[in-house]
Amino acid sequence: MTVEPTTTLSSTIARVRDLAEHVASNVRVQGWLSNCRSSGKLLFLQVRDGSGIVQCVVRKGTLDDDLFEALKRLPNESSLEVSGTVKADERSPGGVEMSVDAARIVGEAAEYPITNKEHSTGFLMQHRHLWLRSSKQAATLRIRARIIKSIRDYFDSRGYVCLDAPMFTPAACEGTSTLFEVDYFGEPAYLTQSGQLYGEAGAMALGKVYVFGPAFRAEKSKTRRHLTEFWMVEPEIAYAELDDVMDIAEEYIATIVSDVLADCRPELEALERDVSKLEAVVPPFPRMTYTEAIEKLGAAGREVPWGEDFGAPDEDYLSSTSDKPILIHRYPASFKAFYMKRDPSDERLTLSLDMIAPEGYGEIIGGSERSADLEFLEKQIAEHDLPRADFEWYLDLRRYGTVPHGGFGMGLERVVAWICGTQHIRECIPFPRMLNKIYP
Ligand code: 4AD
Ligand code: MG
Repeated sequence: MTVEPTTTLSSTIARVRDLAEHVASNVRVQGWLSNCRSSGKLLFLQVRDGSGIVQCVVRKGTLDDDLFEALKRLPNESSLEVSGTVKADERSPGGVEMSVDAARIVGEAAEYPITNKEHSTGFLMQHRHLWLRSSKQAATLRIRARIIKSIRDYFDSRGYVCLDAPMFTPAACEGTSTLFEVDYFGEPAYLTQSGQLYGEAGAMALGKVYVFGPAFRAEKSKTRRHLTEFWMVEPEIAYAELDDVMDIAEEYIATIVSDVLADCRPELEALERDVSKLEAVVPPFPRMTYTEAIEKLGAAGREVPWGEDFGAPDEDYLSSTSDKPILIHRYPASFKAFYMKRDPSDERLTLSLDMIAPEGYGEIIGGSERSADLEFLEKQIAEHDLPRADFEWYLDLRRYGTVPHGGFGMGLERVVAWICGTQHIRECIPFPRMLNKIYP
């Protein structure tokens, strides 16, 4: 009978996040070296496996001397497997450390470009494929994934059908200034700016739908709130009027925030997020009309001529007046989309809404009740200089059983930025696309 050498890696593979469940057992962790420090006969390896970081203590003599020396000189981000006994240790993050009895270097890394010193954002963005390994970036991606699950759970559990809209479209939904044109077999086509118009067709077929996918806008300015490729969630609901849409938007945002608070405490902590700010996000949210918002701005010495859109600093001021998101409704038609229903009590106004996040994170939701009226939409399409032929299918939705309906679009990255407390939305998507930025 052969005896297993004690230097064999444990056959029980454990995730760092779950190590507390393995105290006193021998397990294997598969990961990367995030740091190594030596002190006399001891090596302290910080091993990261994507779920967390564990301190692994190697005592000289436990391992083969060559392996011990190789570990001591191993560059950060080399991949390795370590196994040993898990010990409770109150001083360690996660409450455990590992006493190593076997290890294997899987892939020795070249000198790692990202170090503990301050790097410029330009440098980090150029190394985005590696930057994702940093604890704050990884925490942001985990929160993003949790938000996506929360979005799907919210709609799936309330009878909405997930409807995938096309990415190639013949016509503009949100104005013609930000279109990405592509050559579609010799004909011009555009990358979608919004799945809404298709969502409307879906709502007439299925009652309640949500479109969830990427949206593309040729944003020609650099801001901390704009990407050229971002993800948008767009519920569309048959028979919903503006007030219904606002109620849904409010409940939905509060649900996402409370899901993240329930499930992502370690990530919010890694990001040093002040969670009391998120705990305040409980309905009802303050609501005001565009005209009331103009008055509020005016009273604070910020004159915005009636009929003009708010700038980011105006939205920041308005958001600073509340610790919850605010809903602004009934914007003038002058700068809003062609499909919005007008306010019957003042035809200059649309039945639209924007939700502005607290703490200066800007507009996270834009939506409206849609016009159900064929003639009105025909006129709008002409006035907005849109190619009528490309909208015939859309007009059919009013020809065949038109009903009141509405919905909204939520920009995923802006919500991730707000919930994570991240200043710039480029860190809220794995590989951001911005003006003149397409690498890596
Ligand atoms: O307000 P928007 O343009 O509305 C629409 O597209 C509607 N068709 C939605 C609907 O009613 N179904 O965009 C919706 C949201 C904005 O509130 C913002 O959060 C986000 O999408 N957004 C962007 N996010 C990142 N980068 C950009 N360039 C964005 N443009 C809009
Ligand atoms: Mg908008």
